[in-house]
This record gives sequence, structure tokens and C-alpha cells, in this order.
Amino acid sequence: SLGMLDVHWEIDSTSSELARQHPVLDDLAFVMAETQSAGRGRRGRPWLSPPGMNLYLSVLKRFHAGFASLSGLSLAVGVMLMRALDDLGIRTAGLKWPNDVLAGNAKLAGILVELSGEYSGPCAAVIGVGLNIRLPDSVHERAGQPVTDLAELTGGLPPDRNRAAAAVVAALTEGLLTFERHGFAAFAQEYAAHDLLRGQSLRILDPRGEYEAVGEGVDARGALRVRRADGSQVTVDSAEVSVRRS
Ligand code: ATP
Ligand code: BTN
Repeated sequence: SLGMLDVHWEIDSTSSELARQHPVLDDLAFVMAETQSAGRGRRGRPWLSPPGMNLYLSVLKRFHAGFASLSGLSLAVGVMLMRALDDLGIRTAGLKWPNDVLAGNAKLAGILVELSGEYSGPCAAVIGVGLNIRLPDSVHERAGQPVTDLAELTGGLPPDRNRAAAAVVAALTEGLLTFERHGFAAFAQEYAAHDLLRGQSLRILDPRGEYEAVGEGVDARGALRVRRADGSQVTVDSAEVSVRRS
């Protein structure tokens, strides 16, 4: 099999690279790049990936149990990133369901989980992580939403990028093993401690339509629980969620 950690100068997308190499890789394999020419977020949205001081990293993890057992994986990866940030001395970030790491309402990191394989047989997850360490001004101008980086959170003295990469790789290596054994249950308490939506007024767009509700945490599968104005509790599996300004 190929090496466990491949580092590229430029690649289209570290997640695409793992998808291409998939058949020949071990149970756990990492790809990093200095810059991506076609970095992507969810629903085909672009992830701006200039060279310089950021982290673009993907990991392939195989699971034997099938993706029926993988609910909550992207939330668990969020917790793993919070652990890595904590190791780096960064304690001001939080998690916005389902897959964003924010600091002061601006996007610090993004998580992209892509599954392949069988529902109850062997399957694999390619997990992509983009972590901003020092963004050029152009990203702030082009992102279309507030973005931030570790430089901003540390008053201009971000952790060394190699240390940041090591912390993220270590947190993912350990966390994915824990997830394989115990699922989201092993991360639920820590998720709750970092949950930015709990108690917030939210505007939700899901298959039911568009409505307002208050965040009430997540359930054992990682679905978002909210309470609507009429008092009813609703569980949301996937949706666009925005925090309502009041
Ligand atoms: P959702 O809340 O549904 O996740 P989102 O707006 O965060 O929505 P994603 O698809 O998760 O969308 O992320 C892609 C978005 O992230 C892009 O549309 C852009 O606004 C933003 N973005 C792109 N590059 C970066 C970057 N390097 N750092 C922070 N944000 C970025
Ligand atoms: C999101 O917030 O929508 C997720 C963004 C994920 C970006 C990372 S960067 C490394 C990996 N390669 C990609 O093309 N995307 C992910």
C-alpha cells in the first residue's frame, strides 16, 4: 500500500486524491497539500485554498460495520478538531451543527465527510479538514461569509503550522479509533460543551419548510433537536441552519 501520510505541493483536492487512491490504501491514510486548485466544501461549494499558512488535510478511514453505524461522524470530527485546538492553546472556537468550526461567528475550519461502500457491510469515509491558520486578505474578500484564522485568534502569533498539523493528525487518529468502537456516544458530552446553537434562536430550512426554533442540543445519532414556537420538539437530520439575529 502507499504511505500513511502523503504531502503534496498542489493538488485539486486532498479528498479527491484519497478517493482516487482508495483501493490501494491502508485502513487509515492521510493526504495534505500546501494549496488546492479545486478545494471543495459541502454541496459543491468552493473551499478557498491559497498557499501559505493553512492546513488542507484529508483522511481515509475504513469501517467494517457499514455506514449505518456512522451517524454523528462529522460532529465527532468537530470534537476531534476542538481537542486538537485545545492542545494548541486555542479555546475560543465552537461547533455549529452540523460541520462548522466557528470563532466569534466567523468560519475557522470546515469539515467535509464523504462516505462510500455499503449500508451494513464494509465502507469508508473520506474526511476533509480545512483549518485556517493565516489567511490572505483575498479570502476574507471572496468567501461570502465571515472567516477567521488562528492568527486572528492569537493576536498575530498563531501556533507553528507543523505543530498544528501534528495535533490534528493525532486527534483524528485517536478519535477515529474511538468512534469506530463506541460511535458518537463517546463524543456527545464534549459536543454539548462546544455546541454554539444550544439556546439560540434559529432559522431552519429543511424538507418540512422554513421555520424558526430554538436549539436544544443533539440526539444520540447527532441529529439537531429544536423547539418550535408552538412548543413542539422537532429533530432535524440535515438542514440549512442560520442563527437569527435578535
Ligand atoms: P453550511 O452552514 O450549510 O455548512 P456554509 O456556508 O458553511 O454552509 P459549506 O459548504 O459548509 O457552506 O462551506 C463552504 C463555504 O465556506 C464557502 O461557500 C465559503 O463561504 C466558505 N469558505 C470558503 N473557503 C473558506 C476558507 N478558506 N475559510 C473559511 N470559509 C471558507
Ligand atoms: C465545509 O465547510 O463545507 C467543508 C470544507 C472542507 C475543506 C477541506 S480542505 C481539505 C479537504 N479537501 C477539500 O477539497 N475539502 C476539504
